[in-house]
Parts: sequence; structure tokens; C-alpha cells
Amino acid sequence: MPAFTRAIVRPPGPSFAKGLTSAGKGAPDLSLALAQHDAYRDALRRCGVDVFELPPSDAFPDATFVEDVAVIVDGHAMLTRPGAPSRRDEVGLIRDKIAALFDHYDAIAAPGTLDGGDVCEAGDRCFVGISDRTNEAGADQLGRRLESLGKRMEKVDIRSIRGLLHLKSAIAFVNGMFVVAPIARALPPLSGEPAIYIGDDETYAANCVEINGRVLVAAGFPRVSAALKGRGLTVIELQMSEFEKMDGGLSCLSLRF
Ligand code: GLY
Repeated sequence: MPAFTRAIVRPPGPSFAKGLTSAGKGAPDLSLALAQHDAYRDALRRCGVDVFELPPSDAFPDATFVEDVAVIVDGHAMLTRPGAPSRRDEVGLIRDKIAALFDHYDAIAAPGTLDGGDVCEAGDRCFVGISDRTNEAGADQLGRRLESLGKRMEKVDIRSIRGLLHLKSAIAFVNGMFVVAPIARALPPLSGEPAIYIGDDETYAANCVEINGRVLVAAGFPRVSAALKGRGLTVIELQMSEFEKMDGGLSCLSLRF
């Protein structure tokens, strides 16, 4: 992975508990979510990243999941068009920041939809989940942009996998290998790839994030942490209970570039 020097985050706002979720784990505690987000920002800094903190949004309960509203690859930014109608206008909250940081940026246009959580960069390839949030038109628009950057886009249809919100809810690319949750094992592009296959009870930890040689992993999933440490990686475990209640993972909480 390229070195990351910066990240954009947005702490959860007062309406966080009104966001979209299918987790069935109860309502999140906002003050605990804010403390967990504080620790997340600290971890980014420990990985050598400057953190830009955007203000919390009350109007958009899911806006803390900033990864879904832009895709940044090799220093090129593309605003997305989130697939959930309640999230579509979150893009407007981040446009000025993207415009300030990047000389030029593109945007997914209708009828395309795309959530950044469906985009898994893996070396010179980029896997894009076709999901309830990301459609073929959105993936194709991103694919054309990626092609101009010398990357190959491969679509992965995850619509038949029950309970899988985004592609990166079930896979991550870390240090040249995939971390794969059981529900994603059968996905065709992953066969034959170097991978850590994790257990049924540790699916949530598949959404881990490599930053400059360290890996952020959700706390409470010891076998995933041990597998990563066993491959020589430095693991930073982070409490994520309140974000898990809202279907969010570690990657969802930042845009890294
Ligand atoms: N709550 C995150 C999402 O559904 O997009």
C-alpha cells in the first residue's frame, strides 16, 4: 500500500442513533461512541497520519462514516453518490474539504451509485462490490477513472450474500494478502489469493485497516489479531462496539490518503 500521510474523519453527531442499521445490537451510546472515535483519531496519529477533523453532523446520522462519500486512490479523489437515499446528500458536507485538498476531483453521476465501503484497493487492482448501495453504473464510472490511473477494476457481486452491507464489511487487503470473513470465502476473485481466513465468530474484524505498516483491528477478536501479528504486523486494537451497532467498521470512519 502507498504511504498515507493524511486522513479525514468526522466524529458522530447527536443524531447518530437514528442512522441506518441492521445490526440488531441496540442503540449506540453517543458518549461512548465519541470516546471510541477519540481513540481512533489517536491511533491514526500513531500511524503517522495528520488528521483533519470535520464537524459532527446532526442532519445526517451516518455522516461519521466518511469513507462512503469519497474514494481517494493514488492522490486522486472522486466524490461518490451513496446508494442509500438518506445518505446521498452527505457528499455536500465533504465537497469543500475535498476541493481544498485536491486540485481536481471527479464525482459519480446519476444513475450511478457507489459507497466507498464497497471499494477495496489491492495493489494495482481495485475490487468494487456490487451491492444494495453500489450499482454497475457507479462501479463503471469509478473503473474508468481507475483505468486512467493504471489500476484495474474488478466487480464483485455481493448481492446474494445475506447481511453483507459493503464488500469491505467482509474483506480487507493487508500487506499483500486478503483478510476474509467466512461469508466472503466463495467470492470468485478471491480464490487462489494469499489470505487469512477468519472464523465465523470474528466476521466483524474482517474490516481491518493497514496504515503505514500497522493494522487497526477491532478489539475483542483475538484470533484475527493473532493471525496478523503472526505475519509480523503491528496491531492496534480499537474498541468499536458503538459503531458496530450502526453497521460501521474501522475503515468506514476515515478517508486515508
Ligand atoms: N450505518 C451505515 C450505513 O448503513 O451506511
